[in-house]
Amino acid sequence: MYNIFITLIVCVFCGTQATKIPDRLLNNGMKIPIVGLGAMDITEQAVRDAIDLGYRHIDTSHNYHTSDKKNWSEIIIGKVLNDVFKTGKIRRQDMFIVSKLEADYHQRQRVVVGIKETLTNLGLDYLDMYLVHHPNSSAPVNISITETWQGMIDVLQANLTRSIGVSNFNEQQIDEISKLGVIPVTNQVLCNPYVVQKPLLAYSDKHYTTLTAYSPIGGSRYPNLLKDPKLVEIAGKHKITAAQVALKFQVQRDVIVIPKANTLKYLKENLDLFSFSLTDQEIKDIEALNKRN
Ligand SMILES: NC(=O)c1ccc[n+]([C@@H]2O[C@H](COP(=O)([O-])OP(=O)(O)OC[C@H]3O[C@@H](n4cnc5c(N)ncnc54)[C@H](OP(=O)(O)O)[C@@H]3O)[C@@H](O)[C@H]2O)c1
Repeated sequence: MYNIFITLIVCVFCGTQATKIPDRLLNNGMKIPIVGLGAMDITEQAVRDAIDLGYRHIDTSHNYHTSDKKNWSEIIIGKVLNDVFKTGKIRRQDMFIVSKLEADYHQRQRVVVGIKETLTNLGLDYLDMYLVHHPNSSAPVNISITETWQGMIDVLQANLTRSIGVSNFNEQQIDEISKLGVIPVTNQVLCNPYVVQKPLLAYSDKHYTTLTAYSPIGGSRYPNLLKDPKLVEIAGKHKITAAQVALKFQVQRDVIVIPKANTLKYLKENLDLFSFSLTDQEIKDIEALNKRN
């Protein structure tokens, strides 16, 4: 069950202590750091701080803004990556960059247009993972998910991305696209102690894919999650925060997490997950907080 590679190494990097984050194995043999930085409404400074702290996995999308709404997330990530690569201390292959295909690019021949725009924004030659952001395409044209997935396979075969996956898909939709011969490496979904996604996680384990949890500490949908008495109680026992409980809950279930934080203290806290473990009973207690099936 716990098949992440626990190789917790603290290394000295750029004069700061950068944490090496354990990897999660994907169905194509690639490894992804199990904790990534969610980059929706992010600041440039947060991306810089995150990389300094040891974040090597960044999750963005073609339509994400910066927190001041004055720029695109992909553009500022590209700027920071360019600066970081110039130092020579971090190479392209040290980073795991994820972005997403938006609904107005769902036609097979438009997928390549979408990923090329993303690559230009990021200043990269390839992505590590490209996701179909939502199963539904923009109105008025309704494009089937299999047509879109065929376009995703095209960009994979053209080496514009090293892996392809989906977001906000259900089990039937994953079954349908997998018939084309490429199983998505992940399904990125809303997942936190109030939406624990037990059936979808069981499906993912059985069907050789993974879950990535977005809004893992509640996001805007569950702004009071971190005040939940059970999470606060568990946090108190381990002398950690409720956010760390929510994130460790996912990591111990082999779920990839992409918390977003602009605050330096939170960025640090969200990586500091590997010196404690939740008990089986605590995992069960958190699962019992589920509000949605
Ligand atoms: N595929 C999809 O459809 C989809 C949908 C939504 C999100 N996402 C992805 O998932 C990422 C994360 O989701 P999200 O941004 O909705 O929600 P989230 O990561 O659960 O929550 C982010 C909020 O929590 C705060 N926070 C972060 N760490 C904290 C900590 N340790 N203690 C207390 N508060 C903390 C942040 O504050 P500050 O920023 O002020 O520091 C921010 O307000 C997004 O950035 C995006 O990459 C994907």
